[in-house]
Amino acid sequence: MKANHECIVSLAHVTKYFDQSRPVSLWKREHSRIYALNDVSFVLRRGEFAAYAGPNGAGKSTTFKLLAGLLRAQQGQVKIFGADPCVKRIEVMRRTGVLFGNRSELWWDHPVRASFEWKKAVWDIPDDVYLSNVSRLKELLDLEPLWNTFSRELSLGQRMRADLALTLLHSPELVLLDEPTLGLDVLAKRRMIDFLKLANQELGVTLMVTSHDMDDLAEMANRLLLINRGRLAFDGSYDALLRMTGDHRLVRLTTSAESPVPEGLTLVDRSGDRFTYRYDGTKIPSPHLFTLLAGIPGIRDIQMEPENIETVIAGLYRKWFSEGEADYSSKG
Ligand SMILES: Nc1ncnc2c1ncn2[C@@H]1O[C@H](COP(=O)(O)OP(=O)(O)O)[C@@H](O)[C@H]1O
Ligand SMILES: [Mg+2]
Repeated sequence: MKANHECIVSLAHVTKYFDQSRPVSLWKREHSRIYALNDVSFVLRRGEFAAYAGPNGAGKSTTFKLLAGLLRAQQGQVKIFGADPCVKRIEVMRRTGVLFGNRSELWWDHPVRASFEWKKAVWDIPDDVYLSNVSRLKELLDLEPLWNTFSRELSLGQRMRADLALTLLHSPELVLLDEPTLGLDVLAKRRMIDFLKLANQELGVTLMVTSHDMDDLAEMANRLLLINRGRLAFDGSYDALLRMTGDHRLVRLTTSAESPVPEGLTLVDRSGDRFTYRYDGTKIPSPHLFTLLAGIPGIRDIQMEPENIETVIAGLYRKWFSEGEADYSSKG
């Protein structure tokens, strides 16, 4: 769906910290303050599909907890549909679906359908809305075969699909998904991402999805928000990010050749007959890479993968430093 100008989520200069105190001796305690979010601002408009990405501990879940009204920021303003989620929690949550991937809302010792019936009753979802949503979600997420299975018997991928359907049951306009692809295998991940795109395009749902996996992002996002150590490090399209940092990828070769170094590739690791190289996908497109690799004799295996998110973020900072634009790392 095309984004319009209606502002669905806004964070304005939001800072959230946690104070901790731990005993260092019998009489003394050590106090420390962790900034989970440090002066974060962004706006999400109706119809957008944003990936909220960053390494573990970056502040992603904290952001979602603030949006869900589960935590309160010490500074700045958090708004959903123009309201403070801590003040108007029920109104806001009627229009929002939130899923924390590491926590299931399904009733563990009941068939999957029981959780849906329960939510219908508690949320007072009208019969017609319930029936039409259940039938659509069952079809889109292939839930029919699981409908009478006990939730505890589901695989992780099945559990995520059922939880996602439950999150969407009350036709939310905004859906916040915290690490919905965590731990899923390639196929299950693919399915999840395809479904989310569909939910965005066909059902018009505004989506914000977190991930710590660089792999997921190119797939999902027409907008990418990168967060690192509580600060927003990047806000733009995936292509714009690659233009800034380069499309860094790794390729691993297992070969009997002696120290092959194809042109344009940098050797970053070697263990035995396994060689790991880094290259820039914007400079060496895949067909060119295959030609280069074809020149190496005795190859037994080739694996390619995107560089991890920490390295991409480090690349961004290096670029900023060299351009003197910002000095993020010394502020956090
Ligand atoms: N309840 C809490 N008490 C203390 N520190 C916390 C709490 N929740 C989160 N943090 C800290 O805040 C930072 C951000 O955490 P989080 O938002 O969970 O990151 P992410 O979801 O990106 O992995 C981390 O350093 C984490 O340890
Ligand atoms: Mg998290």
